[in-house]
Amino acid sequence: MRYRSQAVAYWYFAVAMVLFGLQLVFGLLSAAKYLGPDPLLYILPFDVTKVIHTNLLIVWVLTGFMGATYWMVPDESRTELHSVRLAYIQLGLWVVMGVTAVIGYLFRYGTGNKLLEQPLPHKIVIVIVMLMFLYNVVMTIRKSGRFTTTEGVLLLGIAGAAVLYLPALLHYSNYTVSIFYRWWTIHLWVEGVWEMIQGGFLAYLLIRLSGADREVLEKWLYVIVGLVFIAGILGTAHHYYWVGVPHYWLPIGGVFSALEPVALVGMGVYAYSAVRRSGLTHPNTLALHWTIGSAVFTLFGAGLLGLAHTWPSVNKWTHGTLVTAMHGHAAFYGAYAMIVLAMITFALPSMTRDRPEQGTAVGYWSFWMQLGGMFGMTLSFATAGIGQVYLERILGLGYLDTQLKIQVHFLMLVATSSVFTVGVALFIWDFFRTRPRFEVVGEGAPMPSEPTRPVRVAIT
Ligand code: HEM
Ligand code: HEM
Ligand SMILES: [Fe+2]
Repeated sequence: MRYRSQAVAYWYFAVAMVLFGLQLVFGLLSAAKYLGPDPLLYILPFDVTKVIHTNLLIVWVLTGFMGATYWMVPDESRTELHSVRLAYIQLGLWVVMGVTAVIGYLFRYGTGNKLLEQPLPHKIVIVIVMLMFLYNVVMTIRKSGRFTTTEGVLLLGIAGAAVLYLPALLHYSNYTVSIFYRWWTIHLWVEGVWEMIQGGFLAYLLIRLSGADREVLEKWLYVIVGLVFIAGILGTAHHYYWVGVPHYWLPIGGVFSALEPVALVGMGVYAYSAVRRSGLTHPNTLALHWTIGSAVFTLFGAGLLGLAHTWPSVNKWTHGTLVTAMHGHAAFYGAYAMIVLAMITFALPSMTRDRPEQGTAVGYWSFWMQLGGMFGMTLSFATAGIGQVYLERILGLGYLDTQLKIQVHFLMLVATSSVFTVGVALFIWDFFRTRPRFEVVGEGAPMPSEPTRPVRVAIT
């Protein structure tokens, strides 16, 4: 740790870990319900467990983003955070918002708008928290006068995420209008501004871990941001095919969303070539696994599996089926869960006691079990989804009859998600098993990987 205020990040990461664990409990509960019988049917029905599962996902990933930003910005701007107190108040408010929202969902208190179910008071708190966060980050950068492109892209992503949440505050009684604007938040988050957040963290990690040239990586970042904007904005229309808007949205959605994976290919190539060309200057190889893993898994989950059902003539069969869940899991995990886990793995050795910089054996087990488990889960949802499309939409079987016939895939889901859960449990255990230690070392000194490249280990 080079700056005392970076310690704030640890508490954000700790909260993210707890919420990640809780998210999986509700995921497993949701999966179990597909197999029935369901003893909790009247206490915790599927719709409630799924809402809690997906909302906890969004909250823990955003908590991770905030912690990782509070870690990265002092490092990049070479200064202490503007206000540590504000950062802790922000975390407190955020946790209260998250916990009360989940309790509310248990009592069916929510707006029913998928992924944006938070009641209005909670939404207002979210806006306040985002403003506090942005203020703290901007003031830190202003104070230091050092503003890197990597930080710029990250900041653009965070500011964009805050602005795009605003449409979610409005309520429309017309269902088509409501769905139309819902995607301004959800789609433009995950296929727009959040990709910038991921890009910012990815560039930071690659510069630190591989000693790659900052100038080269930052040029790539501009290209990626450009591509995200060109394809991502009009790509929103891939959610407008069947919602009751004019039919010209069909070709617009098809063409522009099919271009979206180009940016993700760019991100993958950029991560791979950074490491190939520069080698390793940092001993934390576990963090490098998570970093490259995130770029590659995003290409698979978002790029390839997104492309698989984005064309209208395919989407008319797969829309709203388990094929969507297949893509949703792999994309969210690769792009946003893995990048947060990469930032945590990178920062943790300098915030805890006696932790080897290169990662622990438990850490590697956790990485491979999560990866294998999530790959298996993706295949389970895919096979279930393809079966569902065939039986229900082509043969015309009823929804519930179809569900009975595809149960075997849910057995596979439970098996693979158990492997995944053990992987996550190992990560959480590895996180908490060493106590935090907030010692400042080499304050203000440039990171070793910046001006010189002391060690070059070629990866072949
Ligand atoms: C990291 C990036 C991405 C994430 C996290 C992500 C996540 C998701 C999620 C959670 C859904 C379900 C949303 C809902 O029904 O409320 C969804 C739907 C969808 N995504 Fe993505 N996605 C990403 C990128 C992409 C890309 C690049 C494409 C296209 C190439 C794509 C194509 C689609 C399509 C077509 C749907 C609608 C499925 C349906 O009709 O039911 N996604 N995505
Ligand atoms: C133990 C592991 C997990 C299990 C058993 C699980 C299971 C489930 C189930 C059964 C659903 C409901 C699907 C439906 O609507 O029919 C669901 C939804 C969802 N889960 Fe998970 N999940 C797990 C972990 C995760 C993780 C790690 C992520 C992301 C990083 C994630 C993201 C999502 C998303 C985005 C949805 C909504 C998808 C949609 O609406 O199409 N889940 N999950
Ligand atoms: Fe989308």
